[in-house]
Order: sequence, then structure tokens, then C-alpha cells
Amino acid sequence: MKTKLLKPIVTTTIFLAFKVVGPLTMKTKKTLVLLLFFLFESISSEDVCSPTFCSSLFLEPEVRFPFRLVDRQPSSCGFPGFDLSCNEKNQTILKLSPSRSFIVIHISYTTQVIRVDPDFCGPERLVGINLAGTPFENNLESYSFYNCSSPNASFNVPNISFPCLGSVNHSVYALETFKISYGDIPQSCKDIATISVPVLKQYVGIVRSTLSWIMPFCETCELGGGTCAFKDGETTCILYGRDPREISYRLIVITGVPTLIFAIVLICYVRGKVRYYDQGQHQSIDLSAIAITPQTRSTTGLDGATIESYPKTILGESCELPKDDSTCAICLSDYKPKEVVRTIPECSHYFHVDCVDEWLKLNATCPVCRKSPEIA
Ligand SMILES: *[C@@H]1O[C@H](CO)[C@@H](O)[C@H](O)[C@H]1NC(C)=O
Ligand SMILES: *[C@@H]1O[C@H](CO)[C@@H](O)[C@H](O)[C@H]1NC(C)=O
Repeated sequence: MKTKLLKPIVTTTIFLAFKVVGPLTMKTKKTLVLLLFFLFESISSEDVCSPTFCSSLFLEPEVRFPFRLVDRQPSSCGFPGFDLSCNEKNQTILKLSPSRSFIVIHISYTTQVIRVDPDFCGPERLVGINLAGTPFENNLESYSFYNCSSPNASFNVPNISFPCLGSVNHSVYALETFKISYGDIPQSCKDIATISVPVLKQYVGIVRSTLSWIMPFCETCELGGGTCAFKDGETTCILYGRDPREISYRLIVITGVPTLIFAIVLICYVRGKVRYYDQGQHQSIDLSAIAITPQTRSTTGLDGATIESYPKTILGESCELPKDDSTCAICLSDYKPKEVVRTIPECSHYFHVDCVDEWLKLNATCPVCRKSPEIA
């Protein structure tokens, strides 16, 4: 579940609490903030080990148990030896020894395989890869590299080409050493290196080294739609959505947050009516100052054209509105002659035009009855 999305919602709720709860007593305010804080904490603690990426564009492999990103997640999120990091280009990096790092291209959690760029074109060039002391299977393959002076050397055995190692008049090829027999190598080719590396595969011209792991064994869990995680020091399979605790947690979050926002607005509305009935001032609550992330804004608010299409009324001397509804539920001040109010057509609730416009930009629901005017 994307608990990350809930963080801005909860943060917004806390901001709203501070902004709107002005008239409440200190004690009530403290209780409310504590309540929100615990909700926030329970979400963020669940969040720490949730899948993450080096690049926010989601172009990089998803990192989750048994892997973790060392700079972003505590060691309890991953299995020992499965530490990944991000480089300055936001690429996912696997460090196998102090001197050998590889760019991670793909992780398959169901087949327990990680594909890396063997980096033979990097500064280390043709140096073998040692997997001793790592959690990865030591299934190394011996490869012989040839430097051929003819531009299109032909071999009788499968070969992998390395354009980055070649030049105008030379091409470099790798062949599995055990498959080579006498006469397979053209005269124009010179043996330049024989090294042991995890199995090489060429995908659309790009060479990848494939590493696999056995422990922790999470294949069956992953195939069943779950994810492995550490629980009480043991690797266990967590089936999201089936764990009753997970379900109740979701319910709390999904129903709790909107209810809380509604409760705050309602409390303020009622208190505003009781306490500020005679107070004619326009108490300004700057809703635009409340921090709401763009994703929240774009998914929940209404656009300007829709808001403009709702009817506006200029209040006359008699106010032309029923007396029992003489206070704007958003800014808690009474309507005065010549003020402009806007009515939400679906429920006929009305508010100061300035107040309700700001509100509708952030929420597509009526602040009093929560009816959504947006449903088309
Ligand atoms: C291949 O051979 C040519 C000529 O001997 C040399 O200039 C070139 O550096 C060699 N390439 C590699 C990758 O060893
Ligand atoms: C490549 O080969 C051609 C023809 O044999 C030669 O003229 C040219 O100088 C060579 N280029 C390099 C960079 O060795």
C-alpha cells in the first residue's frame, strides 16, 4: 500500500488543526495534536521498509527486502549482504568489494536474480569478479576475450561483442572458454584475457552479468503476492491485504483521516456559531498557506472553471439568507450586507466567495456536508 501518499494528508491535517483550531482550549489542542502525531508515527514506522527507488522517476529497479538502500533505510529492512546504494546519477549501485561496484539494471524478486552491468568498459576493464563473502551464488563462468583486427570476425561459437573496448580497426569479443576448441578462433584474433565472472548475457547489444541468490528464500512468498520481511529477527512472508492487522490498519487510515478533518471543521463551525455569533469581523484563515503537496492538490481540488460555474449572490441589506445560517462555516464570521456568497449547487450550502473558492481548490467536497459537487 502506498503509505507514502498518506504522509502529506496527515501533515495537512496537522496544519489544519493548528490553523483552524484557534478558539479551542490549550488542553483540547494538545490532545488533538498528540492523536495526530500517533497516527503519523504509526504510518511512518510502517513506511520505513516499504519499496523504494534511487530515482523518483521509477526508472531504477524497485528496492525491497532482501535488498535495502543503505542511506535511506535501517539495516532491519534488508538481509545482511544485500545493501544497495544510489550514486550521484541516481543509479542503483551494488558494491561487492571495496573496489568493485556495479550498476544494478534489474532485480527479479520472483526468480531471485539481480542483473548488473559488469563494467568491463570502466576503469577496471577486464578483471574477474569474486563472489566469495557475498550472499550471491558462486556460479562463475570462465570467459576468454579476443582482440580481432578484422572488423567482423566470425566465430563458430556464441560470442559477445564489446564495442566500447574496440577501436576503428579492432573489435573485442568474449567467448565461453570451455566452448572453444582448436580452429574456432580466426587468425586475426589475439587472446587478451581470460577471467571468471557471473554468467554474461547480451540484451539488445548491452552486456549484463547475472547474479542469483538462494538465501533468504522468498520465491514462493513473492509468487503468492507477498513480500518477505524481518519480523522478530526472522524472515517471514507478509501477504498484504490478507494480514488482518494490515486490513484494520488500512481501515483506520482510510476512514480516520477524512473523519478527523471533518470533525475539526465541524467543531470549529459549531464553536464559531456559539462563540462568535455577534462578532462581525472577517477572521481570515489563509487556506492557501496550508502546506499541501501538488499531488494532493491536483487529485482532490476543483478547477477554477468548475468553481466559477457555481452561483454567486450579493447579499442585500436584509441578507436574504435564513437567519439560522448567518455564519460562514469556513471563516466563522457572520455575513454582512454587500458581501458575496457562493452556493454549492448539490447541497445548497453557501459560504463567502473568497472562503469557499480557496476551499474548493483544495477539496472537492462541501465543507459542511462533505457532499462532492464533482461527481459527474
Ligand atoms: C587490440 O589490439 C590493437 C593492436 O594491437 C591495440 O592497439 C588495442 O589497444 C587492442 N585493444 C585491446 C582492448 O586490448
Ligand atoms: C585502420 O586501417 C586502415 C586500413 O588498413 C588504415 O589506413 C588506418 O590507418 C587504420 N586506422 C587506425 C586508427 O589504425
